[in-house]
Amino acid sequence: MEARSEHNKFWLNKWSSNAIGFHEDFIHPLLKQYWSTIDSAPRSNVLVPLCGKSKDLLYLRDQGHNVFGIEISEIAIVAFFAENKIAYEKIQHPNHDIFQGEGLTVYRSDIFNFPKKILPKIDVIYDRASLIALSGRQRKNYSDWLTTSTQSGCESLLITLEYDEEKLSPPPYLVDKMELAALYQDNWLITHLGQHSALAKGHQARENAYLLNRK
Ligand SMILES: C[S@@+](CC[C@H](N)C(=O)[O-])C[C@H]1O[C@@H](n2cnc3c(N)ncnc32)[C@H](O)[C@@H]1O
Repeated sequence: MEARSEHNKFWLNKWSSNAIGFHEDFIHPLLKQYWSTIDSAPRSNVLVPLCGKSKDLLYLRDQGHNVFGIEISEIAIVAFFAENKIAYEKIQHPNHDIFQGEGLTVYRSDIFNFPKKILPKIDVIYDRASLIALSGRQRKNYSDWLTTSTQSGCESLLITLEYDEEKLSPPPYLVDKMELAALYQDNWLITHLGQHSALAKGHQARENAYLLNRK
């Protein structure tokens, strides 16, 4: 419990001090490259857990999907709507708030306290810098959370990071193939789509894109 609240404070502080080096002011290239491997119908429900103020939400909405984000920081959510000039309504609840814009719903909540019953049936998950924002124990809770929130047929586009651990300290956390298998293979079919060079905190790193299919 204590570790969880330390984790939450860490991320809330990142947003309040504008220390958001992970944020990219462009659509992530691997999303554009690999989105077509997802077998999604038009107007699918796409979940973006730990979404920050990612521009990728816009790309997914522009593909015609209903996009649902979950993010703990209200600063991030308000910035997302303001910077992209999207009108929204805020609906307050005791443990979470709902920010509702055209084609886009962002829930302000700790994902681990999120009232799952309000989430529609999710067809696709997009995970960039979400799994890898979490420490070891939380990653297991997170993958379990995704598994129990989805049904057979759900797909996920997941991007992980590998780097020289002597050069940088997490987050982002290094998640290798072995860990990925331990987290997902019981409930998801894992396909490695490709490895690409990338930068993590200014250091050379490798991004891995995976397609996960819920069994
Ligand atoms: C590394 S950032 C990535 C954001 C986004 N996926 C992107 O690509 O820019 C991780 C985000 O997760 C949010 N976050 C961390 N822990 C969370 C939790 N338990 N529940 C909801 N959001 C969380 C942080 O506030 C932060 O915006």
